[in-house]
Amino acid sequence: MWENQKIYRYESIDSTNLEAKRLGESGVSSGCLVVAKRQTAGRGRRGRVWESSFEGNLYFSLLLKPEIPVEQISMLTLVMAMAVAEAAEELSGVELGIKWPNDIVFEGKKVAGILTELHMAAESGRFVIIGAGVNVARQTFAGEIAGKAVSLEEASGSVFSREDLLQGIMGHFERLYRQFCKDGNLCNLKEVYHSKLVNKDAFVKVLDPAGEYEAVALGINENGELLVAPLDEKGQPDREKLQTVYAGEVSVRGIYGYV
Ligand code: BTN
Repeated sequence: MWENQKIYRYESIDSTNLEAKRLGESGVSSGCLVVAKRQTAGRGRRGRVWESSFEGNLYFSLLLKPEIPVEQISMLTLVMAMAVAEAAEELSGVELGIKWPNDIVFEGKKVAGILTELHMAAESGRFVIIGAGVNVARQTFAGEIAGKAVSLEEASGSVFSREDLLQGIMGHFERLYRQFCKDGNLCNLKEVYHSKLVNKDAFVKVLDPAGEYEAVALGINENGELLVAPLDEKGQPDREKLQTVYAGEVSVRGIYGYV
């Protein structure tokens, strides 16, 4: 699938997701990849800024035109999370986790984030952009992310190339994406995801706009939604009141912190 992959490389760009969107609107083919050394307007989930002035990190966006129903698109984020975690583990030798749905973490601190966006273009039709930012080299995290983020080099104590990491991610993603497209859901990838899910069987705070509550996260279903058992008045998970949490609307935190 990635043979002859078209790669657009930039020293600096506003956002690789935005550039991929522009390329998508101009009709580039599925699989094209945008990579930048830094971003001047890096974007995170929920309208947040993704600080991207440091050149030692990896910032990329993959454009895809999957032939799947629109409601399956959000699952691609989880597929990319597995690919990033697997490739980064392979290269760095440290064990990483996934905080549902798509943060890559090391010992409770964020190593990478993923932003998936769906677009419609008048001429070229529907396309998806999956953007990822990975903290690679040692750096000082300031402001909001101070104490909450970590780089792969800091986690592992070794130095490695961003290019090798990118190649590794693409290789893992290709395999996982093929499986996902074949199944149309995560039924055959769920166990891999669970093996990395830091929230599995852990206490979480569900930040539902309709009202926050505490629960135990049991894992994901084949659609990538998080299954949680809300705590009863004794603080015990009530499995009879199982809830399905959809990532688009709700986020989760650890009861005592981010994970
Ligand atoms: C998150 O909030 O966790 C998602 C962060 C996604 C950041 C990446 S960096 C490359 C791509 N371009 C962007 O503007 N955002 C994504």
